[in-house]
Amino acid sequence: RLSEETIKIVKSTVPVLAEHGEAITKCFYQRMFADQPELKNIFNQTNQKAGRQPKALANAVYAAAQHIDDLSVIMPTVIQISEKHRSLNVKPEHYPLVGEYLLLAIKEVLGDAATDDIIEAWGEAYGVIADAFIAVEQQKYHEAFAQKGGWNGYREFRIVKKVKESDVITSFYLEPVDGGELADYKPGQYITIKAEVPGEDHTHLRQYSLSDSPGKGYYRISVKREDEYGGNPAGIVSSFLHNQIETGDIVSISAPAGDFYLNTESENPVVLLSGGVGLTPLMSMLKTSTTKQTGRDIHFIDAARNGSVHAFKEDMSQVSADHPFVKTHTIYESPSEQDRGYDKKGYIDLEWLQEHVPQHADFYYCGPEGFMKAVHHSLKEWGIPEERRNYEFFGPEGSLD
Ligand code: HEM
Repeated sequence: RLSEETIKIVKSTVPVLAEHGEAITKCFYQRMFADQPELKNIFNQTNQKAGRQPKALANAVYAAAQHIDDLSVIMPTVIQISEKHRSLNVKPEHYPLVGEYLLLAIKEVLGDAATDDIIEAWGEAYGVIADAFIAVEQQKYHEAFAQKGGWNGYREFRIVKKVKESDVITSFYLEPVDGGELADYKPGQYITIKAEVPGEDHTHLRQYSLSDSPGKGYYRISVKREDEYGGNPAGIVSSFLHNQIETGDIVSISAPAGDFYLNTESENPVVLLSGGVGLTPLMSMLKTSTTKQTGRDIHFIDAARNGSVHAFKEDMSQVSADHPFVKTHTIYESPSEQDRGYDKKGYIDLEWLQEHVPQHADFYYCGPEGFMKAVHHSLKEWGIPEERRNYEFFGPEGSLD
């Protein structure tokens, strides 16, 4: 337990951290990777370059520090982050390392303002926060392992099929090399792939949603090739998968994870809204809903740039032809001359939603930032309560407000 004094120091320095939080975490990562290069095998170096991950961690640390005397307040966040950590195989022994460099960075950025008392208090507080994460993660490792077909860490899978879904999206079908059972998953969940890309000096971990329904005897991921664009380099892992991984090749993945999944207990209609490759978790939800006839009406709103990058077009028309309770709508941002059969040109907005989908539905959305903001604000404006708005970000948790 932390002393009253420690709690007081930590709480009173939260505003200082908030001011310097990002500088501290940036400095922390720089020093940590310089001294402990093996951690580059775990952290997404592209997110590091874009500065997204430092921000996510900084926010989590402020939140924890603010509630250091009652961490139960932030337990939902801890549980959410731990789900990602478990999928990335973050281990208890990593915490002291991260703690050491975080403290060093606080010292360096705050300079003279970081007295010994402050550093000591933060050291203790970090220990308490780390223990909370470790405890939740141990439970999650246990559950991942204990379930039928489950495992811990990484397991080898063979690519048994590679299917092009659009100009930019390709699906990979994976089966375990050991021939053992496959862990079940909830529609919307993801796996982490550990990619050993030739020419790279460290492994790259990436999350991909499972895009088919569970219970098929394989996992399927559908990956968008991230080409070089507007000064951003091509995606290392997506290019590797598209250009170098073929049927018969082996990749390592961790067991399915994630808290963005279809609530199958609810009886409300379901509205699935996807932007670009954000459709992958929603495809899984759609396919699962149609295999398990639940009597719920399903609306699938699929936004893409145009027909050439629009994946699963035929699949989708087939699903709605086979199942009268499924309605699909296509929105093209800038349709080309050849594009036919889309329902709207431009962007999704509240007026269009109100015309086409029921208000008392459960909403699930996933897509790029602009799309997410448009959907999020429209639904809030429409008065859809938080518990019926479910969403997932690409990459580190961002803000929609
Ligand atoms: C992701 C917080 C410790 C490795 C994250 C995220 C947060 C976070 C907020 C973003 C979650 C998301 O994307 O949804 C924390 C806090 C920690 C901690 C508060 C300490 C108390 C660790 C440790 C490791 C680690 C010890 C392992 C060395 C990662 C990795 C990611 C991540 C690899 C994925 C993001 C990326 O690679 O860019 N963490 N974390 N974290 N964390 Fe932690």
